[in-house]
Amino acid sequence: MAKAVTKPDDLIFQLRLARSAPDLWPMLDALYGSHPAYAQFRQDLLSALAEAWKDRPADLKQLDLARDLEPDWFQRADMAGYVFYIDRFAGNLKGVLDKLDYLADLGVSYVHFMPCLKPRPGDSDGGYSVMDYRAINPAYGTLKDFKAVAKELRGRGISLCIDLVLNHTAKEHEWAEKAKAGDATYQDYFLMFDSPEIPQAYEKTLVEVFPDNAPGNFTHYPEIGKYVWTTFNEHQWDLNWANPQVFLEITKIMLHLANTGVDVLRLDAVAFMWKRLGTRCQSEPEVHMILQALRACSRIAAPAVIHLEEAIVSPQEMLPYLGRGRHDGREGNLAYHNSLMVQFWSALATRDTRLMTHVLATHFPDRLTNATYATYIRCHDDIGWAITDEDAMALDMSGPAHRTYLSDFYEGDFPGSFAQGVLFQVNEATGDKRISGSFASLAGLEKAQSLADSEHALQRILMGHALIACFGGIPLIYMGDELAMLNDYSYRDNPDHAHDSRWVHRPKMDWDAAATRHSGESAASRTFLGVQHILSRRRATAGLHAAHPTKILPTGHDAIFAVQRQAPTGNILCLFNFSEHWQHVSGGWLRAQGVTQFHDALSYAPVILHGDHLALPPFARVWLI
Ligand code: GLC
Repeated sequence: MAKAVTKPDDLIFQLRLARSAPDLWPMLDALYGSHPAYAQFRQDLLSALAEAWKDRPADLKQLDLARDLEPDWFQRADMAGYVFYIDRFAGNLKGVLDKLDYLADLGVSYVHFMPCLKPRPGDSDGGYSVMDYRAINPAYGTLKDFKAVAKELRGRGISLCIDLVLNHTAKEHEWAEKAKAGDATYQDYFLMFDSPEIPQAYEKTLVEVFPDNAPGNFTHYPEIGKYVWTTFNEHQWDLNWANPQVFLEITKIMLHLANTGVDVLRLDAVAFMWKRLGTRCQSEPEVHMILQALRACSRIAAPAVIHLEEAIVSPQEMLPYLGRGRHDGREGNLAYHNSLMVQFWSALATRDTRLMTHVLATHFPDRLTNATYATYIRCHDDIGWAITDEDAMALDMSGPAHRTYLSDFYEGDFPGSFAQGVLFQVNEATGDKRISGSFASLAGLEKAQSLADSEHALQRILMGHALIACFGGIPLIYMGDELAMLNDYSYRDNPDHAHDSRWVHRPKMDWDAAATRHSGESAASRTFLGVQHILSRRRATAGLHAAHPTKILPTGHDAIFAVQRQAPTGNILCLFNFSEHWQHVSGGWLRAQGVTQFHDALSYAPVILHGDHLALPPFARVWLI
């Protein structure tokens, strides 16, 4: 019999290790069991977990216990996130402290600092080319500043999310430098080839992520005589996750970051982590095994921390990141609901929600185990039209034609389009065209010619926010959208950004507009007050808890999208009018969906039927109880 553990701290660690062992070791056995150094690796990993636990500050250990008792802390209706670049929002980390009242005013309980670890100099793909995972970007401050901000946020009940890039490091990272110098140990951290044959064989089935400015997936470095796997940009070297040392190193980094006081780790570009010849090398089964094992490590040594997995892929491919089959409840706690975002824009352009209803009802379960979505309308990245040919066909549409239409519409080219966006990464070979643009510009505010146009744009923005606030998940508001900030074309003058149109929707915060946010006079102020209201109504509507089922209902009205949230306290029927025309829904249908009180939890007002019909103005949204 094992010796009884006496120190409470050790006991907690042992219990947590025992709890997560079945989630961890079988994954690692399968991934790395045949590796000659596997036994040593297991020992090293165990020591790393114990070490991280020993180093974990007392206040975070207390948070671990609190969250063990309240494992749904991230699923509650009082969670709402705000995403920003530290420099663009507040100059630096210390500046963030001065802006906490603004965040509280908006009603935010979660912040995502866009990449804030030390990036390579020059173009760093917005910080996603990380040179040192243990240092904060010096332009933002020091590790000490970071920990102080994390503590202050925690004190205010605001969770902190930061990025951990798993697929690649900057080519200037210490490991890459050693690999370049010929150290075989570190060359095995990356995917390096002596001749072009193997890369060419992989290339046959790979897609290009940045076909415009970083074509191909490999880079040849004659000076070292190697072809290096570089899925994204030349300066981002893909890690070799088939090497257990990479797993070990990243786990140590992950737990080190966890111990600085972050609550959510956004695991970046996870789909690409495992390579298999003859495939797209995206979302291979091993990716899910690695991610389950990483989650188990967090649950052992830093259980207050949850994982947001960034996989912007088709509906069917995305769900497994929240755990399916044997990974159910054991993988990501959060993943972006990319389909919801894409379908929002698609339905807004066509004024037709049937494709949206079909996709969301067919491909997504009504509930998830220990997990939920990050719901969003815009983020720092482009919009790729992730609509499959099969889904389009189900609605008698052509996939390629609909995707091209959406690009043209949101670029602003399509006749009658209200949107103003910028193309991103046009792929001549596949015809694929993605779109950049701020929420407000894509929704019509930039192009608005009349008061009526602006009003429609504003209502589209508020409808989008009302949708992500009720759908089920953590709504993420992208900095500036709450003030209806327009596209910022100044990126074209910055040589590090000019090639990357995503910077058009990464503006500097408009603090002048924020200063008059309560006036109710400008579009900025009306949007702010509207979003603030939506978040406060969300907080007050406990039935929106993410664990309650989300059911998509066909409404029989092309322009109306319906989500039913099935709370034990009663259903909430959320309706959205995606058109600029009034719509009328019959009282009979509403009653059949369980609407009894005819009270709108969003406007917090009774709903009056006209001739037993609910009248929905252009872009209306209601949460009916
Ligand atoms: C993720 C990020 C994106 C970045 C890419 C490569 O998709 O969201 O901004 O370019 O990873 O790191």
